[in-house]
Amino acid sequence: MTLPQDDLAATTGAAPPLAERLRRLRTEAEKIGDLMDGTVSLPWRGDNYQIAQPRDFGGLLDAAADDPEQNMPYWAELWPSGVGLADAISHDPERVRGRRTLELGSGLGVTAIAALEAGAALTVADYAPEALLLCRYNALRNAGREPETLRINWRRPEPALLEASGDGFPVVLAADVLYEGRDVAPLLALLDRVVAPGGLLWLAEPGRKVAERFLEAASAAGWRGRTDRHPGPWPDPKDAGVVVRVHALRRDG
Ligand SMILES: C[S@@+](CC[C@H](N)C(=O)[O-])C[C@H]1O[C@@H](n2cnc3c(N)ncnc32)[C@H](O)[C@@H]1O
Repeated sequence: MTLPQDDLAATTGAAPPLAERLRRLRTEAEKIGDLMDGTVSLPWRGDNYQIAQPRDFGGLLDAAADDPEQNMPYWAELWPSGVGLADAISHDPERVRGRRTLELGSGLGVTAIAALEAGAALTVADYAPEALLLCRYNALRNAGREPETLRINWRRPEPALLEASGDGFPVVLAADVLYEGRDVAPLLALLDRVVAPGGLLWLAEPGRKVAERFLEAASAAGWRGRTDRHPGPWPDPKDAGVVVRVHALRRDG
């Protein structure tokens, strides 16, 4: 007797085949709204990723206008920092290979794809369930694997994240998460808890003032390391001239 795949999975405990998992995730993701698919190229390494993202960013922005917390749908866009950090990971995969790795603010999953391809045991965290879903879909499509996901808001204590963190993640990734002043102190406090002693904070940012404030506060708190500059080019021509700074930081002591 031939069983449909779902019955087969229920009987054997086996995961459905990749094509079926992709089809299901795509169906879920299309409930967010009309999606468009494009190619993102990593400028240094030349890897190409197929990325699905919402077509109507303006509509998502309008919908967010009523949000009392003013949580913007920036997860729906491609940002140079995410591409730059993906490029840095692809260039130096040993930093994450085989390591428990956390990404804060995953967006569409460009950085997550590079981390998974490099062999990271990856958990991604974001407050937008749509971001987590598209991250899973884009990761599975490109890397053949999905990250674990955590829906968290880093402005509040998050027991689920602290539990997942255990003694800390050896690597924490974050791309363009510093654009609101209210996030500087909570993110620094969270990183202090979720980066393992001696662990790496790999942070990419495009030179916003809020990021400068964060870096000053991090330096005062003992975070040290090196910074590489990445000039692109980036997927969106309007980002021409943006220089992404990729910081590899560790805490003193
Ligand atoms: C500018 S986007 C960057 C996305 C991705 N890292 C990239 O570079 O393409 C910022 C990301 O952080 C998430 N984010 C912003 N504030 C957050 C918060 N307080 N808690 C959790 N996630 C947050 C957003 O949903 C979004 O995915």
